[in-house]
Amino acid sequence: MPGVAGAERLLGEVEEAEAALREAAERELDGEASFDAVIAADQKIEPRDAMPDAYRAGLIRQIAQHAHSEIIGMQPEGNWISRAPSLRRKAILLAKVQDEAGHGLYLYAAAETLGVSRQELDTALLTGKQKYSSIFNYPTLSWADMGAIGWLVDGAAIVNQVPLCRCSYGPYARAMIRVCKEESFHQRQGYQSLYVLAQGTPAQRAMAQDAVDRWWYPSLAMFGPPDADSTHSAQSMAWKVKRFSNDELRQRFVDMCVPQAEILGLTLPDPDLTWNEQRGHYDYTAPDFEELMRVVKGDGPCNRQRMAHRNRAHEEGAWVREAAAAYAEKNRKAVA
Ligand SMILES: [Fe+2]
Ligand SMILES: [Fe+2]
Repeated sequence: MPGVAGAERLLGEVEEAEAALREAAERELDGEASFDAVIAADQKIEPRDAMPDAYRAGLIRQIAQHAHSEIIGMQPEGNWISRAPSLRRKAILLAKVQDEAGHGLYLYAAAETLGVSRQELDTALLTGKQKYSSIFNYPTLSWADMGAIGWLVDGAAIVNQVPLCRCSYGPYARAMIRVCKEESFHQRQGYQSLYVLAQGTPAQRAMAQDAVDRWWYPSLAMFGPPDADSTHSAQSMAWKVKRFSNDELRQRFVDMCVPQAEILGLTLPDPDLTWNEQRGHYDYTAPDFEELMRVVKGDGPCNRQRMAHRNRAHEEGAWVREAAAAYAEKNRKAVA
């Protein structure tokens, strides 16, 4: 399929990170290497290792927020499973939404290795104490949104997450490798679906363009506030959790999307998008960061709906948790 060269390159980076991870596991550090020595040697910190409290707390916050985003992110697309235009598209969308549940699971499990319980994480999401990505507070108004989300939202996610495959905390890095491989599939399916619509009838084309117009700026906002206002970045970079700044990743995403949009024959809704010869990058209009902050704080188009749905699903799942706990208890007694 044309236009996915950027995605291929990202997948290559994931594979390199995976090889580096395997190599690091084989290299022995002498006995009790300090936290700083492990970080300096580009080795991985593992759950048994001593680590600064702030490193642990920062990672719990970041991984939990990431896990919550995967789970809440199932809602906007889940909205279209029953209305997919063909059995094939329905099967693809089902598989994709199910992948997102799996991503949530890998990430909750990675957070748990830092000493936080699953129940604490659930409660933090359900009470709004911890946030999830602002992007999932926007509504999915047409079928073309499934394409635009796959291409742009999963695309932005993968640009954000590929560097995390090299993050200094082992369980997070390993989870991200699996997540990124699946995200790459998500992005391609979205792009392909949008490509078909863009080559279709004038009405289908218009629907695809409208979806791109609505998802472009919220996708740019996924990289977070501009570097100047980003609160946690410097420490996170020093600890090799974050490897690139918000603005660097945003630029990488814009540069990747422009040629892909050209192949789709769709327009990105930014009249100032131009190639800057000197910088070797596209100049672009920044997203509305005030809107981002409003949506993060709870005032987006769908915040209340998403939280109500999640709380209801949690309550309705109580019997499953009870049954699983009773079964585990029965097995424990049988062994004892
Ligand atoms: Fe995901
Ligand atoms: Fe995804």
